[in-house]
Amino acid sequence: MADIKRIGVLTGGGDAPGLNAVIRAVVKAAFSSGIEVLGIEDSFDGLIEPGRSRVLRPADVTGILRLGGTILGTKNSGNPLAYPFPTPEGDVDYSARVIENFHLLGLGAMIVIGGDGTLAIAHEFSKKGIPVVGVPKTIDNDLFGTVNCFGFDTAVDFATDAIDRLHTTAEAHHRVMVVEVMGRYAGWIALHAGVAGGADVILIPEIPFDLNNVAVRLKERELWGARFSIVVVAEGAAPIGGKVSVIAEGDPATAERLGGLSARVAHDLGKLTNKETRYVVLGHLQRGGTPTSFDRVLATRFGGKAIECVVQGDFDKMVALRSPDIVTVPLAEIVGKQRRVPLDSDVIRTARALGISFGDHAPDGN
Ligand code: F6P
Repeated sequence: MADIKRIGVLTGGGDAPGLNAVIRAVVKAAFSSGIEVLGIEDSFDGLIEPGRSRVLRPADVTGILRLGGTILGTKNSGNPLAYPFPTPEGDVDYSARVIENFHLLGLGAMIVIGGDGTLAIAHEFSKKGIPVVGVPKTIDNDLFGTVNCFGFDTAVDFATDAIDRLHTTAEAHHRVMVVEVMGRYAGWIALHAGVAGGADVILIPEIPFDLNNVAVRLKERELWGARFSIVVVAEGAAPIGGKVSVIAEGDPATAERLGGLSARVAHDLGKLTNKETRYVVLGHLQRGGTPTSFDRVLATRFGGKAIECVVQGDFDKMVALRSPDIVTVPLAEIVGKQRRVPLDSDVIRTARALGISFGDHAPDGN
């Protein structure tokens, strides 16, 4: 058991629906255990610059369960370990400032809610002596060590609704509609929204595609009498032997930004099939709005478990879903790894059995 009276909580990386639900659970569960919570603003920036933190009491988090975004603010660029920080004694990296402020604020531990980048930083601070508990967050669902991250279900729900809406207009105009979803280098959102929305083609990063195969599939549908088709593309998918579509290059502190594949796919499929095609990029709409009930419950369970870890002195861990349980996993085991869609997953097998094309071979091979 750890005798900790005050902890900090921060949110880092891109926002995901459910962040506020975790903050709320952390604050309320900590209060029940006699622990005060300091909300740190804008990821680790709130520990670099003074005055960017505030005490959170249960009254401060009432009513935020259903809110998207994060009341603490977040950042998905910058890394306190990556840049030198000038002081009269010479350059130090920001980590020294973070550690100094952690102690000045009287904190005994940090709860860090974030994705792979943020949790990797948290693990480094853990090695430097800050007791840390990580909470996995990302709509991409690509974090190693947990079956689900909160935010994913909400993103899939939104994308499914969008596909439902596109079905009616695609059918009315006999068009091919191409829908681009997020997910970085993993195809979880595309696969699940595609299956839930009844897509005809799903292109994911794990399976390089050839649009000639996709065109064969779309023409085959035409022969059946289906005069429209829905193609879901993950932003990180790429043609066989080709590259992912990048909007902006990355640097050591900021990830590259993916996007633009749907425009190319729509253009090329139009030429190959001679059908009218349109594309839609769902973009950040997938990260907005109110979390689903699944994400609210998962986020709440993660927050509660994180406080159990603090009370028990179980640090340098990430809370995780190993259905049906919430468990802890050493941060060292998950940093630098990515959970991608397994090619032999039953979802892929079933999708293929239903005739959904992944563009890797012509329908005859399905
Ligand atoms: O990791 C979450 C995510 O939404 C990815 O799916 C997407 O590629 C990226 O963040 C977008 O980042 P930004 O908010 O910087 O545009």
